Amino acid sequence: MDIQTVSKLRLLFVCLGNICRSPAADGIMHLKAAERGWDEALTIDSAGIGGWHVGQLPDSRMRKHAAQRGYDLVHRARQFDKETDFDRFDYIFVMDEQNYSDLRSLARTSDDMDKVRYLGNYITHFGGPQVIPDPYYGGPRDFDFALDLIEDACDQLLDRIAHHNRL
Ligand code: 4NP
Repeated sequence: MDIQTVSKLRLLFVCLGNICRSPAADGIMHLKAAERGWDEALTIDSAGIGGWHVGQLPDSRMRKHAAQRGYDLVHRARQFDKETDFDRFDYIFVMDEQNYSDLRSLARTSDDMDKVRYLGNYITHFGGPQVIPDPYYGGPRDFDFALDLIEDACDQLLDRIAHHNRL
């Protein structure tokens, strides 16, 4: 499917701090979309539930592991804003149950809540759908595993967009 037939879809990735998982998903999705020639067709961004790291680049460990796979993570952390982000995006992808319930409490309407999806529901390898655990207090393997899961989910997301023009 070429770029003209993919209508503008707006995708937001959300995790707790916006310095590990969601900026990784953001950077991975940007590159994968560009590889399909869809960078103009998709709006891709990320945000955190919390504001502790606002303005920071992603965690240096995540940047290093992502760079080893060809992803340059340049997003600056920002906090999710319920007054604008539910309106500005068509789909909001969370990493774990905590993110999901946090967004459930922030949702103003059932339409807001309907936009929230588990990114890990789109995983097909590594045993199928699962949450994407926070690697922040983990070691190198935890960062690599989070990237494995996110890459897999992003591939499936793009395939679904290609086939259905929605999710
Ligand atoms: P993230 O990881 O949600 O994947 O960005 C975290 C990073 C920092 C903190 C929590 C999670 N923190 O509490 O500082």
